[in-house]
Parts: sequence; structure tokens; C-alpha cells
Amino acid sequence: MKFYLRPTKAYKQEVDTLNLFAFENEEQIVFRDFPAEIITDFKEAIKKENFNGKKGDNLVISGRGPVSFYKLILTGLGKKQEFDLVTLYDQIAKSIRLSLSNKAVKVALSVPAFFLDKYGSAVAVQATVEAVKLAGYKFLKYKGDEEKAKHRDVEEVILLLPAAKIAAAEEGIEAGLLFADAALYTRDLVNEPAQVTTPEFLAEEARKIAKNSQGAVKTTVLEEEEIKNRKMEAFMGVARGSHQPPRFILMHYKPLRPRKKIALLGKGITFDTGGLSLKGPEHMETMKLDMAGAAAVLGVFSVIAKIKPQAEIVGIIAACENMPGGRALKPGDILKAYNGKTIEVLNTDAEGRLTLADAMSYAALREKPDEMIDLATLTGACVVALGEDIAGLFGNNDRLLLNLEKSAAATADRVWRLPLEKSYQHLIKSHIADVKNISGGRYGGAITAALFLNEFTGEIPWVHLDIAGPAFAEKDTPLAPAGGTGYGVRLLLNYLKSV
Ligand code: BES
Ligand code: ZN
Ligand code: ZN
Repeated sequence: MKFYLRPTKAYKQEVDTLNLFAFENEEQIVFRDFPAEIITDFKEAIKKENFNGKKGDNLVISGRGPVSFYKLILTGLGKKQEFDLVTLYDQIAKSIRLSLSNKAVKVALSVPAFFLDKYGSAVAVQATVEAVKLAGYKFLKYKGDEEKAKHRDVEEVILLLPAAKIAAAEEGIEAGLLFADAALYTRDLVNEPAQVTTPEFLAEEARKIAKNSQGAVKTTVLEEEEIKNRKMEAFMGVARGSHQPPRFILMHYKPLRPRKKIALLGKGITFDTGGLSLKGPEHMETMKLDMAGAAAVLGVFSVIAKIKPQAEIVGIIAACENMPGGRALKPGDILKAYNGKTIEVLNTDAEGRLTLADAMSYAALREKPDEMIDLATLTGACVVALGEDIAGLFGNNDRLLLNLEKSAAATADRVWRLPLEKSYQHLIKSHIADVKNISGGRYGGAITAALFLNEFTGEIPWVHLDIAGPAFAEKDTPLAPAGGTGYGVRLLLNYLKSV
């Protein structure tokens, strides 16, 4: 997909669709630069179809008179005073979906002046490029040629904006392409079935990323013997129920003069059956998604050499399957994590926190970063609390929490802060070990899971994103078809760029 920037003269674009946007009750304004003699025609159509710029309203009109485009697609943005970046991403995505259903290959899209003024040209154009690319994504690898041909993506996108804004917008195109490519790569990894994305497969992806980075990224993979030798008993406990051998994946990126060191950790359960605390079939159906945190970390590293953040970054993935094999972990078993704390395992389906306990301890004790961020499809409880679109945000450091909230707002990867509630600490206290891996009660499961992880931070500034909801869409959304969403990749990239 190619993007071009051009100064406005919307009606003169030789494209399949011209995509314009209107705020509520301002639908007439979009024709500003159309010649007077053709404007009336379009305005009439708008009136007849009762289009008035309400959020989500669309109108497709055939080109008429001396215009050069084939069809006009109008998309409503809703009330101007309620406008935010989530609206921008969603409505651009919807507009592009309409272009696709109208078989468009070449599209001109007018970036509304309001976006450019509110967010600056670079940010507005970056978001536009991301939305266009994310909206066109389909996972067609396992479909036949006919289906593949049917879902042709847009090939050329002309972004129309005032001449004075074009120079600053170039940067936005470049960043938008990188951010979107990284998120789409993560979607692919999550959408692949678990028979493909084994722990060794993820390790091989990490090696490939290093190979393609011209020396900027170094990957080290620890295999089973080494994981055992290093006494990552909690991680091995989960891994040993499966025939697939586990992999402990480390990725390093280091600029010349790093401002700080950041560890990114991703839950990498390549399939979660629940183990002996076996899930029911309806809950197991989508559990290939349980490596979405790991996939997001790989997504970030796939473009890190080009983004060139000013921080040293270490990516850590403890990858394994959670299976109920003959050697599987049993409820009641006690494991010693890498930091020496003992864990009573009462439910083998609360496995992500066990693998993360070792990954986080390893990060804190061996890598000694200035801050750690983990992404994990950790609890169904978080989805109950916040729904499918919003990640739970926990942490022990206000500054880091605030910065991630800022990046979330800038990328429309939504988060909501939940408490690391100390008065619930007793819920994960074990009679026989230091902690237990479930609370036993029915409530507050996202919080008790975060409290459990908090035992393994080594008191390093840390943020935990429970992405069980937004990592995977059960139904089509404007920005992503059903399946992996690439959640977290753009949020992290935005944050890393800001340090
Ligand atoms: N991978 C699941 C969490 C999950 C649920 C992710 C739904 C995405 C969608 C996790 O390993 C799990 O099974 N958690 C249990 C914890 C419970 C046993 C304390 C859960 O949420 O039910
Ligand atoms: Zn589980
Ligand atoms: Zn899981």
C-alpha cells in the first residue's frame, strides 16, 4: 500500500473513491473546495438521504458532473466537542471499509482540518495511515485463491491536506506505516493456530527479527535444559504438561546512549487448555490467543531498529503450552519461583501468572531494568470488568502509569486503571507456601492476579496490562476483523518513542 500527500482539490482526484468526513450538522462544509456548479448536486443528495454527520452515518454517492472520482464516500464524525482519537481511528476505518466494499483500489482521503489543528499534522496523518492499514487487514492464509482475490486491499491512498501542512505530515506517514506493520504482524501471529505458533516457532520469529535488524536486535533463546538449570520452576511447572518443549526468549536492543532500560514482558502461553483444571470447550475455543502478549512484544521488536527509541529495551517471553499431560502440574503442587518465593498451585488454569512470575523475577534480578511493562491475556475477570475493548492497567509507580495512559490515549489502544488493592493481599496468602495462585473467592480476579504478579517485581517500577479482552476480537470491529487485534503494539511503540 502506497501513501501520497497532496494539497487539496478533492474533486479533481482520479480515484475510485473520494472519502470525506463531516461533523454533525456541518455536512455542507466538506464541499468547500468544489466548484459552485457541481456543489448543488451533491448537497441535494445529502439532503435526500438525510445525512447529517451523525457518528457512524455513511453516504455513498456516484460522481457526477465534471468531477474525477468515481464515488464519493461521506462519513459522519458526530459532535465536534465529543471528538477524540478513538472516533478518528474508528470512522476512518469505517470509511475505508466502505471503499473496499465498493471495490476501490485507489482512494483519496481528505484529512479534516480539525484533526490537523487538534493533534498536529504528523500525529493526525500517522493515525490516519494506521487506521487505513488496520482496516484493510484480513487473515487469508488458509483461504483459497478465489477468496484471496475477492479481498483485495486498497493499493494507493492519496491524503489530501493543505499545502502548508504537508512537510510535517511526511513524518506521520513513515511512523504510521511502521506502527501499523508491527500491529499487523502481531495479528498474524495471534491468528495462526496453536499447531503452528509453538514455543519454538515464537523463538524462531525472535531469531528472524534479530537477523533482519542489521545488528540492532540480539536474540537469545534458552531451551528446556537451560531453563531447568536456571531454576525457573514456576515456568517449568506449567510447561511440563506438554510435549512441546518450552522456550525462554530474550531480545535486546541498545542504542548508543540509552536514557534508561525498559523490560517488556509478554505472556506466551501458545495454547491454554487450563491444564488438569481443564477448561470447558467453549472457553478453550479461542485459547490460541493466550500468546497475544508475547506476540505484541515480538511486534514491537520487529520495527524497533527503525523506530530507534532512546532507551535500552529487553523483551522477555516465557513461551510454553498449558496441557494436561501425564507429567502435568497438579492442584496442590508447590513451586519455587526464580526469586525464591514459593507458590501453591491450586488451579492449573491460572498458569500465566506462574510463567510471568519467573519471567519478571528474571528481569528484575538479572536484567535490572529501570522499569518493566508486562502484557498478558491474564484473566477472564478483567474482560467481565472492562469489556472486550479496554485493557486493565495496574502498576506500582504513578509516573509510569500516567505515561502509559498518555500513550493509550494517543493510539486509541484503550486502558483503564484498576487498583493494586493491598487490603486484598490476604486473598492470595497460602497456608503452606508464600502465595497461592488463585484467590479462592469469586470476585476481583483481575486484581488478585495483579497482586500475585506484584510479588515478583523486585520493587522495580512496573506496569501490568491485562489484555484478555482487547487482544482478540470475537466479532468484527471497525479497526480489525474477528481475531487478533494487535492490541498493545502501537501503545508500546508510542511510549518507547517518548522516552
Ligand atoms: N488465558 C486465561 C485468561 C483469558 C480468559 C484470556 C478469557 C482471554 C479470554 C487465563 O490463563 C485463565 O484461564 N485465567 C483464569 C484464572 C482463574 C483460574 C483464577 C480465568 O480467568 O478464569
Ligand atoms: Zn488459564
Ligand atoms: Zn492463560
